[in-house]
Amino acid sequence: MQKLLIDGKKTLSGSIIISGSKNSALPILAATILNNHTTIKNIPFVNDIFTMLNLLKFIGLKYRLSKKTNLVEVINPRKNINTIAPYKLVKTMRAGVLVLGPLLAKYRKAKVSLPGGCAIGTRPVNLHLFALKKLGAKIKIKNGYIFATAKNGLKGTRFRFPKISVGATENAILAAVKAKGITVMDNCAVEPEIIDLLNFLKKLGVKINIKGRKITIEKSLKEKKVSHKVICDRIELGTYIIAGALAAKKLKLKNIDKSLIKKEISVLKRMGVKMSIGENFIEVYKSGSIKNINLKTDPYPGFPTDLQAQIMILMTQAKGLSKIKESIFENRFMHVPELRRMGAKIEIRNNTAYILGPSILTGAEVMATDLRASVSLVLAALIADKRTKINRIYHLDRGYQDLEKKLINCKARIKRV
Ligand code: EPZ
Repeated sequence: MQKLLIDGKKTLSGSIIISGSKNSALPILAATILNNHTTIKNIPFVNDIFTMLNLLKFIGLKYRLSKKTNLVEVINPRKNINTIAPYKLVKTMRAGVLVLGPLLAKYRKAKVSLPGGCAIGTRPVNLHLFALKKLGAKIKIKNGYIFATAKNGLKGTRFRFPKISVGATENAILAAVKAKGITVMDNCAVEPEIIDLLNFLKKLGVKINIKGRKITIEKSLKEKKVSHKVICDRIELGTYIIAGALAAKKLKLKNIDKSLIKKEISVLKRMGVKMSIGENFIEVYKSGSIKNINLKTDPYPGFPTDLQAQIMILMTQAKGLSKIKESIFENRFMHVPELRRMGAKIEIRNNTAYILGPSILTGAEVMATDLRASVSLVLAALIADKRTKINRIYHLDRGYQDLEKKLINCKARIKRV
């Protein structure tokens, strides 16, 4: 199993090109089932994207990718389509469940493995199924699989999600775009990645209206040759801004869209992070003094759960007590015991982490548990005394394109063994 060896206390300087968003590219790839010929640009080549491409191939779609230009072209040949998402693929990546909506909408049936739990929480899919049933699907669970049918096609309807869910909103959108009549869904997730998916679907003739958390979908999708560039990865961007705030003389982050991270920028500014922000770049510098802060993760436009672990490293360097409440997932503090082993002073009570800073972090052998927990250990290692050894880094490869290459180019000392 591969590990990262990181020698801390090296001053970072240089520039990093931010990749396209993984969490935007995944539902858009699922949406290619609905179309005949789709080109997606700015695709991040990370392992979750390859898993989704394998799933599309299993279903019977064909793809061609260009790693040089971060582009993938997907063709649905319409013949020999398998309306199945097998356990072996969905268990390695929960986003595999996003093919349920498009398969059901286009082929009127689907058999998709239930994803099961994961390190950060139980992560059920009841809300996905709730929405599909509202659209007229018949659903049965048997042998670990979701069996969904809609013999006469899906029908537009009105409903309200009892809880906000990114994946359930995406699955519902991907089904509703081929339903007969108008669908009005309320209490939807409205993350930038969902807006990106909607912008893609608009190119296929779907009429979409978004008002607050209400999404209205009318006019069924028309298949045509289409091309779409996915938005920049706001979580990767936030991660590197924090890296810069912790350790950089000057770190320039390029190929970005600053409008996607307004909340994060205001939080970081309140903490005293020094940045200069241009139209499509951000420069960040290590600040002499970081201020403590109280935060809570929330659905967009709130502070993202996907940056909770990373900002905690900045909190370990802030003067005084910082707090962060995790309100999305029930078990997303797996990085805390590892950070404590590196010298951080963190306690957890009622899904809130209390971080007392500033602490001197020291290198240790640690274990990565999920994507964002893993990258938080990388951030901690960058400022730690001596060497940190991070085990189980396959989590990082699921969601960060060229992580060590990007950091090594900015003078970090990292080795993969
Ligand atoms: C998406 O996961 C992201 N994944 C996650 O990114 C992100 O952490 C999460 O949204 C929250 O922002 C992708 O986009 C591929 P949810 P998703 O459904 O859709 C509960 C990363 O590191 N829930 O919004 O699975 C659920 O248990 C990751 O890139 C139900 O109860 O998240 C959680 O508590 C990991 N029933 C909450 O809702 C359901 O049917 C929000 O989950 C669905 C969800």
